[in-house]
Amino acid sequence: MYFLLQEDKWKGLIKVGKFIITGCTPLHGEINVSGAKNAALPIIAASLMADGPSRLLDIPKLRDVENLCEIIRRMGCRVEQDGNELLIDPTTLDTPEADHDLARKLRGSYYILGVLLAKKRWARTSLPGGCNIGNRPIDLHLKGFKALGAEINLDHGIVEVKARNLSGNRIYLDYPSVGATINIMLAATLAEGTTIIENAAREPEIVDLANYLTVMGAQIKGVGTDIIKIEGVETLKGAEHRIIPDRIEAGTFMMAAALTKGEVFVRNVLAEHVKPLIAKLNEMGVELKEDITGVLVKGGGPLRAVDIKTLPYPGFPTDLQSQMMVLLTQADGTSLVIETVWENRFTHVDELARMGADIKIDGHSALIKPSRLTGAEVTATDLRAGAALILAGIVAYGETTIRDIYHIERGYENIAQKLSSIGAKIKKVN
Ligand code: EPZ
Repeated sequence: MYFLLQEDKWKGLIKVGKFIITGCTPLHGEINVSGAKNAALPIIAASLMADGPSRLLDIPKLRDVENLCEIIRRMGCRVEQDGNELLIDPTTLDTPEADHDLARKLRGSYYILGVLLAKKRWARTSLPGGCNIGNRPIDLHLKGFKALGAEINLDHGIVEVKARNLSGNRIYLDYPSVGATINIMLAATLAEGTTIIENAAREPEIVDLANYLTVMGAQIKGVGTDIIKIEGVETLKGAEHRIIPDRIEAGTFMMAAALTKGEVFVRNVLAEHVKPLIAKLNEMGVELKEDITGVLVKGGGPLRAVDIKTLPYPGFPTDLQSQMMVLLTQADGTSLVIETVWENRFTHVDELARMGADIKIDGHSALIKPSRLTGAEVTATDLRAGAALILAGIVAYGETTIRDIYHIERGYENIAQKLSSIGAKIKKVN
């Protein structure tokens, strides 16, 4: 089925589809985790700063990645994709401006600002898009750019940054913003002198980016802690880098196994990166076994109710909140979920209610009572809300149809095939 989507007028039509899921089958087997979307996006952008080509491995095949690659191609760079490998050659970059229509389609497009400010001392793009989980300010990004010496112009949704020189500075982040930490680290890498980012975000995707930048020749210390020190360098060379596994995709699969009381080995996840989820699943009575190649999840017994509070890493990730809520509907007892990161991240609750979930929202808190879920027609409202609906469909009695699955396909590579391979009855119809 094709239809014209407003924001896709430049492309005319996009292929849209639905997922049809028949629930109540325990999942068994082994499922592989793809490369992390939220590491791939900043690393793809960072490759533009090099004076030669980079080869990136384990790049997930996702719409957000395709769109960012298209933005970079339109800037004059050579981008070749071979399966999950990308070759990016920035030496022919001739337009330091991200296509505004495309930039509005994903959050990660704003990394182009940090990269081009570093490389060209000038950049322009439209304010980013992404999920509608709350207003998506970039004030902390701009605060960091200004502290490095940039001038900012924001007009009609277009942001322009330019600087005669970029000089290192000490920057305190009022909130440990993932995007602001990344963007400031990108710009500081080619600034003159030392930059200190205080109250920095500590997410594993930021560590992965810093590892890639270091191989390119950057001087970065303290990443993964709340104080990051960057010594500016003159140039960066192209490098090869393998993206870390996607901890949010892994967590989604781990919860699918627990939900259906199945037994699934989630291969290629770094257990360290999903510690908060492992802790909560243990509290709920789910059996888990970790080794260096992945995590074995054995559902089976009754699930205990637990309380969840989303926090910046290493707290419980907001990107697993909606999926966890589905698991909590199957627990014995009442659970409390508090969402502290985004102001509008309960959009999945109305859709889950159509399937029989008993969830009461009060501001940033939600009270979840045990409920028997039954299949229904539901709509994905954002990437992780959509993932939650898939989990609900897998555990519900009867058939569930999920519309607007393009949200889900922004962040999950081949999710229907992967889940079918461990026994889920899910198919995509266009
Ligand atoms: C990244 O978004 C992720 N996206 C999000 O994942 C994730 O939910 C989020 O980090 C938190 O972990 C990507 O990496 C592409 P933030 P980001 O800046 O960088 C406030 C997904 O599902 N803030 O850490 O946009 C902001 O309003 C997506 O894959 C400011 O106030 O998140 C929010 O309340 C959804 N000013 C909080 O910080 C700023 O300048 C967290 O935002 C920037 C952010």
